[in-house]
Amino acid sequence: MYGKEIAKVLITKEEIDKKIVDVAKEIGRDYNGKDVLFVCVLRGAFAFFADLVRAVSKETTVNARVDFIAVSSYGAGTSSSGEVKFIKDLTTPIADKNVIIVEDIVDTGVTLSYLKGIFQARKPADLKICSMLDKPSRRTADLKADYKLFDVPNEFVVGCGLDYDEDYRALPDVCVLAPWVYEK
Ligand code: XMP
Ligand code: MG
Repeated sequence: MYGKEIAKVLITKEEIDKKIVDVAKEIGRDYNGKDVLFVCVLRGAFAFFADLVRAVSKETTVNARVDFIAVSSYGAGTSSSGEVKFIKDLTTPIADKNVIIVEDIVDTGVTLSYLKGIFQARKPADLKICSMLDKPSRRTADLKADYKLFDVPNEFVVGCGLDYDEDYRALPDVCVLAPWVYEK
């Protein structure tokens, strides 16, 4: 189904959908009947985010609201520059609100530690992190996602929002990119 640049499918859309329901219910138990502002970290989290907030609304009593930020920590390559740039800020104030930052993947953890610092300074009632994927083997920052769907090995993955040089974001499954694509 996919081209030769895709080495293999790592996690199917069906597996992701199932896990999203589990995580939505977990969030529902923690924020029963409350308002929660879900913050989508663009662009990588967009697909997971849309599925997650709809599952939360369907499966729980949480009143889910949404806002969007954009950061960049990668150039066109497959390793982080280590420098995070804030490209688009929230449109809503978060003081005294329950906030969950939604990310595609925690890799070194640098991006989310940076965001957590900025958000915490704005004094939310509560701040948590929900990530679709986690690459624990690559962590350099002291950061743990409060909610996560899957651990992935130290391979470059694309699909379900994740890109290589802006390609592959729209693939429904999480896939391993063939190394020759970024080694050439
Ligand atoms: P850090 O290292 O700050 O990075 O935790 C988080 C961001 O890095 C990107 N990232 C990836 N993107 N495939 C991708 O398409 C990967 O395997 C991968 N690992 C990290 C991603 O944008 C994430 O938000
Ligand atoms: Mg990202």
